[in-house]
Amino acid sequence: MANAKLIEMLNALLALERTGIDQYKIHRAKFVNWQLAGQVPYFDDRINEELGHQEFLEDRILFLGGTIIPQVINEVHVGIEIPAIFDNDEEAEIISIATYNEAIALAVSVGDEDTADKLRFILSQETDHLNDIVARKDQMRMAGVQNWVAVNIRGAA
Ligand SMILES: [Fe+2]
Ligand SMILES: [Fe+2]
Repeated sequence: MANAKLIEMLNALLALERTGIDQYKIHRAKFVNWQLAGQVPYFDDRINEELGHQEFLEDRILFLGGTIIPQVINEVHVGIEIPAIFDNDEEAEIISIATYNEAIALAVSVGDEDTADKLRFILSQETDHLNDIVARKDQMRMAGVQNWVAVNIRGAA
Protein backbone atom coordinates (compact mmCIF):
# COMPACT_ATOMS: atom_id res chain seq x y z
CA MET A 1 0.00 0.00 0.00
CA ALA A 2 1.36 3.40 -1.02
CA ASN A 3 0.48 5.02 2.27
CA ALA A 4 1.57 2.15 4.52
CA LYS A 5 4.44 4.09 6.11
CA LEU A 6 2.28 7.15 6.64
CA ILE A 7 -0.51 5.06 8.19
CA GLU A 8 2.03 3.40 10.48
CA MET A 9 3.24 6.87 11.51
CA LEU A 10 -0.32 8.08 12.14
CA ASN A 11 -0.89 5.03 14.36
CA ALA A 12 2.31 5.89 16.25
CA LEU A 13 0.95 9.44 16.77
CA LEU A 14 -2.34 7.93 17.93
CA ALA A 15 -0.50 5.96 20.63
CA LEU A 16 1.23 9.19 21.71
CA GLU A 17 -2.11 11.00 21.92
CA ARG A 18 -3.67 8.19 23.99
CA THR A 19 -0.67 8.34 26.30
CA GLY A 20 -0.94 12.12 26.60
CA ILE A 21 -4.67 11.98 27.33
CA ASP A 22 -4.16 9.37 30.05
CA GLN A 23 -1.30 11.34 31.60
CA TYR A 24 -3.23 14.66 31.54
CA LYS A 25 -6.32 12.94 33.00
CA ILE A 26 -4.34 11.51 35.90
CA HIS A 27 -2.65 14.86 36.52
CA ARG A 28 -6.04 16.60 36.36
CA ALA A 29 -7.36 14.12 38.96
CA LYS A 30 -4.44 15.00 41.23
CA PHE A 31 -5.25 18.72 41.07
CA VAL A 32 -8.93 17.95 41.75
CA ASN A 33 -7.89 15.79 44.70
CA TRP A 34 -5.72 18.61 46.07
CA GLN A 35 -8.65 21.02 45.44
CA LEU A 36 -6.36 23.26 43.41
CA ALA A 37 -9.27 24.50 41.32
CA GLY A 38 -7.24 27.15 39.51
CA GLN A 39 -5.56 24.58 37.28
CA VAL A 40 -8.54 22.34 36.48
CA PRO A 41 -9.76 24.38 33.46
CA TYR A 42 -6.23 24.20 32.04
CA PHE A 43 -6.26 20.40 32.24
CA ASP A 44 -9.83 20.20 30.85
CA ASP A 45 -8.79 22.29 27.87
CA ARG A 46 -5.68 20.18 27.31
CA ILE A 47 -7.58 16.88 27.46
CA ASN A 48 -10.18 18.21 24.98
CA GLU A 49 -7.52 19.29 22.48
CA GLU A 50 -5.65 15.99 22.71
CA LEU A 51 -8.97 14.16 22.20
CA GLY A 52 -9.49 16.25 19.07
CA HIS A 53 -6.05 15.16 17.82
CA GLN A 54 -6.94 11.54 18.53
CA GLU A 55 -10.17 11.86 16.54
CA PHE A 56 -8.40 13.51 13.61
CA LEU A 57 -5.80 10.73 13.49
CA GLU A 58 -8.46 8.00 13.60
CA ASP A 59 -10.46 9.68 10.82
CA ARG A 60 -7.35 10.18 8.70
CA ILE A 61 -6.14 6.57 9.08
CA LEU A 62 -9.55 5.34 7.88
CA PHE A 63 -9.67 7.91 5.06
CA LEU A 64 -6.29 6.68 3.83
CA GLY A 65 -7.58 3.12 3.81
CA GLY A 66 -5.63 2.05 6.87
CA THR A 67 -6.53 0.20 10.03
CA ILE A 68 -6.68 1.87 13.42
CA ILE A 69 -4.46 -0.07 15.80
CA PRO A 70 -6.39 -0.06 19.09
CA GLN A 71 -5.22 -0.06 22.69
CA VAL A 72 -1.57 0.74 22.05
CA ILE A 73 -0.35 3.17 24.68
CA ASN A 74 3.16 4.20 25.65
CA GLU A 75 4.49 4.53 29.18
CA VAL A 76 2.55 7.13 31.18
CA HIS A 77 4.79 9.25 33.41
CA VAL A 78 2.78 10.41 36.41
CA GLY A 79 4.37 13.15 38.48
CA ILE A 80 4.08 12.69 42.24
CA GLU A 81 4.40 16.37 43.15
CA ILE A 82 3.62 19.52 41.18
CA PRO A 83 7.03 20.30 39.66
CA ALA A 84 7.36 16.69 38.43
CA ILE A 85 3.88 16.78 36.91
CA PHE A 86 4.88 19.69 34.67
CA ASP A 87 8.34 18.21 33.97
CA ASN A 88 6.73 14.97 32.77
CA ASP A 89 4.07 16.74 30.69
CA GLU A 90 6.82 18.90 29.17
CA GLU A 91 8.75 15.79 28.17
CA ALA A 92 5.62 14.26 26.60
CA GLU A 93 4.91 17.43 24.56
CA ILE A 94 8.53 17.59 23.37
CA ILE A 95 8.22 13.99 22.11
CA SER A 96 4.89 14.85 20.44
CA ILE A 97 6.40 17.87 18.69
CA ALA A 98 9.34 15.83 17.39
CA THR A 99 7.06 13.04 16.18
CA TYR A 100 4.60 15.41 14.46
CA ASN A 101 7.57 17.03 12.71
CA GLU A 102 8.66 13.58 11.47
CA ALA A 103 5.12 12.78 10.34
CA ILE A 104 4.82 16.07 8.43
CA ALA A 105 8.10 15.36 6.61
CA LEU A 106 6.85 11.87 5.75
CA ALA A 107 3.47 13.16 4.51
CA VAL A 108 5.25 15.70 2.29
CA SER A 109 7.60 13.00 0.98
CA VAL A 110 4.67 10.85 -0.18
CA GLY A 111 2.94 13.88 -1.73
CA ASP A 112 0.13 14.13 0.82
CA GLU A 113 0.06 17.89 1.40
CA ASP A 114 -3.43 17.86 2.93
CA THR A 115 -2.41 15.46 5.70
CA ALA A 116 0.79 17.49 6.15
CA ASP A 117 -1.23 20.73 6.53
CA LYS A 118 -3.54 19.20 9.12
CA LEU A 119 -0.60 17.74 11.04
CA ARG A 120 1.00 21.21 10.96
CA PHE A 121 -2.11 22.63 12.64
CA ILE A 122 -1.90 19.99 15.38
CA LEU A 123 1.83 20.69 15.70
CA SER A 124 1.07 24.37 16.36
CA GLN A 125 -1.31 23.32 19.15
CA GLU A 126 1.32 20.99 20.65
CA THR A 127 3.75 23.91 20.59
CA ASP A 128 1.17 26.02 22.48
CA HIS A 129 0.83 23.18 25.00
CA LEU A 130 4.59 23.17 25.56
CA ASN A 131 4.56 26.95 25.92
CA ASP A 132 1.83 26.76 28.61
CA ILE A 133 3.91 24.26 30.59
CA VAL A 134 7.10 26.29 30.29
CA ALA A 135 5.15 29.38 31.46
CA ARG A 136 3.90 27.50 34.53
CA LYS A 137 7.42 26.36 35.36
CA ASP A 138 8.63 29.97 34.98
CA GLN A 139 5.82 31.21 37.26
CA MET A 140 6.83 28.69 39.94
CA ARG A 141 10.46 29.64 39.64
CA MET A 142 9.64 33.36 40.01
CA ALA A 143 6.89 33.15 42.65
CA GLY A 144 7.99 29.96 44.39
CA VAL A 145 5.97 26.75 44.34
CA GLN A 146 4.23 27.61 47.63
CA ASN A 147 2.92 30.95 46.36
CA TRP A 148 1.90 29.40 43.05
CA VAL A 149 -0.05 26.70 44.91
CA ALA A 150 -1.71 29.30 47.18
CA VAL A 151 -3.07 31.21 44.19
CA ASN A 152 -4.46 28.00 42.70
CA ILE A 153 -6.25 26.98 45.91
CA ARG A 154 -8.51 29.97 45.46
CA GLY A 155 -8.84 29.30 41.78
CA ALA A 156 -7.66 32.80 40.90
CA ALA A 157 -6.64 33.34 37.30
FE1 LIG B 1 -1.97 16.10 20.81
FE1 LIG C 1 -0.24 18.30 23.57
